Amino acid sequence: MPGLVEADDHRLYALKWVGAAQGRKALVAEVLAGELGRRLGLPVPELVTVDLDPVLARSEPDQQVQDQMRASGGTNLGMAFVSGAFNFDPLCFEVEPELAGQVLWFDALIGNVDRSWRNPNLLVATGGLRLIDHGASLIFHHHWAGAAGWIRRPYDAGDHALLRARPDVAAADKLLAPLAEEALAGAVAQIPEVWLADEPGFDSPDAVRAAYLDQLTARLAGPRDWLPEVSG
Ligand SMILES: Nc1ncnc2c1ncn2[C@@H]1O[C@H](COP(=O)(O)OP(=O)(O)O)[C@@H](O)[C@H]1O
Ligand SMILES: [Mg+2]
Repeated sequence: MPGLVEADDHRLYALKWVGAAQGRKALVAEVLAGELGRRLGLPVPELVTVDLDPVLARSEPDQQVQDQMRASGGTNLGMAFVSGAFNFDPLCFEVEPELAGQVLWFDALIGNVDRSWRNPNLLVATGGLRLIDHGASLIFHHHWAGAAGWIRRPYDAGDHALLRARPDVAAADKLLAPLAEEALAGAVAQIPEVWLADEPGFDSPDAVRAAYLDQLTARLAGPRDWLPEVSG
């Protein structure tokens, strides 16, 4: 679970711990996917890095949170806290087919397995829907040697949270595909260098950035085997 923290800019953030079991790759996925989504015009709350001094753990009463803080000194990920938000429920909230299609297209591109109706990772607040929690996307980065096999892998949208909204995926492809290359380059540049350092098989953080870019650019440039056909 993320922590709720107030940073020295006096704003509240949902904080994802760099020392959590999912590790820094989950944070890389959050930043790359989140920044990509925002550049495509999707409603992703602002992402920031939060520098955590582990000495703060001393005043944390909960033992588990304390351990997490101790393990998470340095650069963590913060997502702007959306106050007064509800967790999305497909039976209670209406989403336009256009937006639903765009979210589904985005999830298919990044291979996001965490947008099911059971666990939508969508918030509803003033101003509408917000997309959160992209840490389980881009799974190819857990096994770079086999990453090429992911490029055309179909996205399984069978449980997707927005299926009931009759997502217009074809319109989304037309709208978003032309924007995606530039958006990707911008998003990849936002990944903090410390989370890319010492990646086995790569000489430098920039080499890892290039690999993410190549991987997603190839998915975009190729046939739409990865894009499910669900339309209203
Ligand atoms: N930016 C945010 N604003 C408000 N609530 C949030 C925010 N991020 C997460 N939450 C709340 O915390 C829950 C867990 O966050 P999430 O990012 O999905 O982490 P995980 O599922 O990996 O534990 C969400 O379902 C939501 O209720
Ligand atoms: Mg979640």
